[in-house]
Amino acid sequence: MARLERLDKVLAKHGFGTRRDVKRLVHSGEVTVNGEVCRVQDMHIDIDSASVCVSGEAVPLQSSLYIMMNKCAGVVSAAKDGLHQTVFDLLDDSVRHSFLDGSLHLVGRLDLDTEGLLLFTTDGELTHRLTSPKTHISKTYSVTLRDAVSAERQAEICALFAEGIEVGPDAQEAAFKTQPAVLSWIDETHANLIIFEGKYHQVKRMFAAVDNEVVYLKRTAMGALKLDESLAPGQYRSLTKEELNLLR
Ligand code: URA
Repeated sequence: MARLERLDKVLAKHGFGTRRDVKRLVHSGEVTVNGEVCRVQDMHIDIDSASVCVSGEAVPLQSSLYIMMNKCAGVVSAAKDGLHQTVFDLLDDSVRHSFLDGSLHLVGRLDLDTEGLLLFTTDGELTHRLTSPKTHISKTYSVTLRDAVSAERQAEICALFAEGIEVGPDAQEAAFKTQPAVLSWIDETHANLIIFEGKYHQVKRMFAAVDNEVVYLKRTAMGALKLDESLAPGQYRSLTKEELNLLR
């Protein structure tokens, strides 16, 4: 299906100035769409297939930016923090400042000490869909626990999590019963947990509710999108079209 956007909006997003600057540029005849001079700034173009040139130079079109980061521990999932480095500080200036009109944001958050898959985008619609409590997108975590858990207790905890478990209150949230979650054990201290909601400190609170403590936490997938394990902690890259389709 064609994804149509107004030419002036597209050019403004790609760094050609304000909508007023862009209007002037288009009226000057410097802009071509699919090889034809276009003097109509509110023309709708298909951002997946249109070829746009300004003063003879092709403009590589991208409707939105989608980035996966392998978040490292010690950085805050926020735009600003008075104390710690933030995940935005890890991005190159070219990513932070180019054609983003201030709309680059995170799709969900990870705790200061949590590592793994973190998404950034300029696509508010996708963010809304992925973070809406109605969507129930799965999030997969790799967990290391403080205390070894016997085989018998492992089975009990799987059953408790599958049913939904009452977790205690946290600084930011009252106690609540979790949605059913899927736990699979790797050994006595390592497990993978799939949850379908994203409450504050949820994974840590779930294991605290069974008298254990998470000592290492990494998000490895969101829905069908898996973390690219070749990204070193703190590194990031754009999503491929196939990966984006997995999220859509
Ligand atoms: N659950 C947590 O407890 N922490 C995270 O960072 C993510 C999920």
